[in-house]
Amino acid sequence: MLQATMLPPMRKRQKRTEGAEGPSFGVEVKFPEVRLYLVEKKMGATRRGFLAQLARAKGFLVEDILSDQVTHVVSEQNQAPGLWAWLRGRGLKNLSAVHVLDISWFTDSMKEGRPVALEARHRIQDILPEASPHPPMVELSRYACKRRTSTENHNEIFTDAFEVLAESYEFSQCDSQCLAFRRAASVLKSVPCPLQHVGAAASLPCLGGHTRAVMQEILQYGQSCEVEKILCNDRYQMLKLFTSVFGVGPKTAEKWYRGGLRTLKDALEDPSIELNSMQKAGFLHHKDISQSVSRAEAMALGDILHETALGISAHAVLVLTGGFRRGKAFGHDVDFLLSTPEKGKEEILLLSLVDSLRRQGILLYCDHHTSTFDINNMPGVSFEAMDHFAKSFLILRLYDSQVEGGLQRVEGQDDGRSWRAVRVDVVTPPMERYAFALLGWTGSRQFERDLRRFARKENRMLLDNHGLWDNTKVLLTAPPHPAQTDGSSPLVLLG
Ligand code: CTP
Ligand code: MN
Ligand code: MN
Repeated sequence: MLQATMLPPMRKRQKRTEGAEGPSFGVEVKFPEVRLYLVEKKMGATRRGFLAQLARAKGFLVEDILSDQVTHVVSEQNQAPGLWAWLRGRGLKNLSAVHVLDISWFTDSMKEGRPVALEARHRIQDILPEASPHPPMVELSRYACKRRTSTENHNEIFTDAFEVLAESYEFSQCDSQCLAFRRAASVLKSVPCPLQHVGAAASLPCLGGHTRAVMQEILQYGQSCEVEKILCNDRYQMLKLFTSVFGVGPKTAEKWYRGGLRTLKDALEDPSIELNSMQKAGFLHHKDISQSVSRAEAMALGDILHETALGISAHAVLVLTGGFRRGKAFGHDVDFLLSTPEKGKEEILLLSLVDSLRRQGILLYCDHHTSTFDINNMPGVSFEAMDHFAKSFLILRLYDSQVEGGLQRVEGQDDGRSWRAVRVDVVTPPMERYAFALLGWTGSRQFERDLRRFARKENRMLLDNHGLWDNTKVLLTAPPHPAQTDGSSPLVLLG
């Protein structure tokens, strides 16, 4: 039997490396100006732990993590090019000021009981091709799913600008330009250090002439003229405002703008506009749901939903997904995957959950989508479209007292309320589709898009939120799909 679980990734215990206990307590630091970092590669975790302990006992400061605090990097048996390439990928602000040393310096220093003077023989020299005016960039794949990306963005000045351009193209329905800027932003988010000149981006994929020109301008003048123009553009600002309402997409926003509407109040008061129930809820809770959701708020909602789901079925499984699963500190909503090992009972579980939330008085809005999932119709023709699982787009009431550390304070809003409204998505795949659904709902959008593209182009496979299929055995061109008799049933279940 499967245990009911709520698995927030951030509660996972950190893997500890032996000897990685930080500066030892009780031992006097004798050389505060020297901060060592021992490279584990080739040295091995055990020896690294032993050497760190030895150094600490002799009054040296040994850092567990390579940060800008480190003054001396010590490496054993590593080749200079590989070591330097690795160091450059760490995103240090001033790597040139760090002494990169061979273990011989460390051993000499341990013998002497003090940091010995640096000699040429101790140093591991950076070997850069003379002809190259800029250090080579780390090699990055064209596919987002093949790039290592942290939540730390070192190139926000460019990615923010690209996001404005992408959005502006989206509003004008120029899909390929929009995607080009989203791709470029995604690539730059994988670069582990700030780009100081466009030359450093020469080897990066997915950066075309337009994106490079924008980067050049930002580097030279601190801003892009094109982006500034968009930001001052009335239409852009209005479309941004209108689409910030839950339930209002770019097309509706454009219609309102063309109809002469300029404020949210205009839209509410215009007698010719009939809002649907999603938009009504969007307007009603606009202020709250425009405000980002913190991790503590997401966790609190997870606890509430988990407890409620367990009250319905002891087998319920709830997992946090979306941006928070990727480690983001804030999100525009909170995404959950809900399932049960009881076959065919997922949607009932979701409906009962929503019902229970309503009875608890915390359901402010629900847009439920019934399951249209049928394995016999898989893979679907438009496999990039929304998945077929039952799902609910909700707005929930979250009380201050339910959140560790309380709700975030919303600037300029002190109406004495002890709660806020939060957008929550809950999707319920059948248990045997769980792995694919979790993969598909973790995001980011670019990661998912490229994962599918990678499967299709590189492996001739079809991936979506429902499964993975061998493309060589599937006929994609004949909708509606007959029940497949050619053995093209789902190939592999991940995990
Ligand atoms: N998703 C999906 N089908 C939907 C809605 C979303 O597959 N009908 C996927 C999206 O592709 C995304 C993930 O679910 O990968 C989460 O979507 P969303 O909440 O929009 O984005 P986040 O990455 O969570 O960003 P944020 O933190 O701003 O919420
Ligand atoms: Mn989300
Ligand atoms: Mn979502």
